[in-house]
Amino acid sequence: MKSAKLILDNQTIELPIIEGSEGERAVDITKLRNNTGFITLDPGYGNTGSCESSITFIDGEKGILRYRGIPIEQLAENATFSEVMYLLIKGALPTKNEITSFNNELTYHTMIHEDMKRFFDGYPMNAHPMGVLASMVAALSTFYPENSEGDVDNNIIRLLAKMKTLAAFAYKKSVGQPFMYPKNKYSFEENFLQMMFAVPSEPYEIDPVVTDALRLLLILHADHEQNCSTSTVRMVGSSLANLFISVSAGISALWGPLHGGANQRVIEMLSKIEKDGGNYKKYVNMAKDKNSGFKLMGFGHRVYKNFDPRAKILKSASDRLLNKLGISDPMLSIAKELEEIALNDDFFVERKLYPNVDFYSGIIYRALGIPTRMYTVMFALGRLPGWIAQWMELRQAKGARISRPRQIYTGSTLRGFVPISER
Ligand code: ACO
Repeated sequence: MKSAKLILDNQTIELPIIEGSEGERAVDITKLRNNTGFITLDPGYGNTGSCESSITFIDGEKGILRYRGIPIEQLAENATFSEVMYLLIKGALPTKNEITSFNNELTYHTMIHEDMKRFFDGYPMNAHPMGVLASMVAALSTFYPENSEGDVDNNIIRLLAKMKTLAAFAYKKSVGQPFMYPKNKYSFEENFLQMMFAVPSEPYEIDPVVTDALRLLLILHADHEQNCSTSTVRMVGSSLANLFISVSAGISALWGPLHGGANQRVIEMLSKIEKDGGNYKKYVNMAKDKNSGFKLMGFGHRVYKNFDPRAKILKSASDRLLNKLGISDPMLSIAKELEEIALNDDFFVERKLYPNVDFYSGIIYRALGIPTRMYTVMFALGRLPGWIAQWMELRQAKGARISRPRQIYTGSTLRGFVPISER
């Protein structure tokens, strides 16, 4: 076995080197503290592997993303979203029989309990749908407790099937329209669209162009190894917390503007630039000025340092979709112009800042008629199978331990309590 040597306090320590199937290498420090008293410090975990995983492979330098070994480009082109869900969770592409029974299961678990439906009455009209989604997914744990082994498998299906219903109901609540129940004749994507956009008084026509664009978006978001929300799901799951509550924590982590919440912020930023007369330079300059507190939303990534393959697919998909739907959206031209200017600016070039998945996804959501505040909910719907696969992997990992990082304490050293009268 290969090893690395570390000299600490004049003592040489040998640390095993772990190599992944794609040649990624890590120094295994699991015994470092016990043997030396030292810990490692890595705020933001940029150099820390929290687990070994066989689900998703990313090479950030080469712009590679693969689910279970299959390139994202091939899945985006050929797969259905339910095939991708199956692939991520079960580890291999389904056969015809397997996908038929998986789809049937998803179809027959789509409704939510009527008692849960009443929860929606309690939210204010302007509640952000991410807050509603996180709390409704947490509430599923009260309806479907995990008492025995088989409950986990059932709960995985329930969550995959019901989350889109919860998401669509959150939207209907926000616009004051009646909830549309799921219909068993529809596919996963079609059912979500009709629950979002149908109204009881009108027939609803499914547009295959819209359904296909939704399929693509969901697939591109389906997993992304140990990002902030997925690590949160694993962190919460490591205490043996149930699936629903672990995923609810992931939804909360995703909401932040540095993570999935960026897709909403991108469109808000592009609208601001449009209202400001398309003054791109001003915004690029603001992003370069550290004192401005402004960042180009949808730019930059912890892992991708060349291009984000998902953004590349979405850029050409947004062109094609807008053409097919006959929509001319000024946001797309603004996004392209902004990208062009930023990618030719030394600040962005030196820091390897490229558009990420959130930069173009909002343009497509807009074209599909999805309101801005629902964008991060759409991301969560796509990411769900990834969260579940990662949670399962953690549960099944041999020797998995509760996640419990350490710290370097920098506060006061020992001092006594001073009574209030003497302070
Ligand atoms: N605009 C301007 N400058 C940026 C941006 C940006 N969008 N992103 C990074 N930088 C700068 C940083 O200020 C830093 O500069 P410095 O080296 O002079 O200090 C340098 O580039 C490196 O950036 P870090 O913040 O260290 O990179 P990190 O890996 O910690 O953060 C992140 C990555 C959070 C994605 C960051 O690029 C960012 O905030 N982007 C905007 C928000 C966004 O689009 N988030 C979505 C990410 S994708 C996803 O979660 C699905």
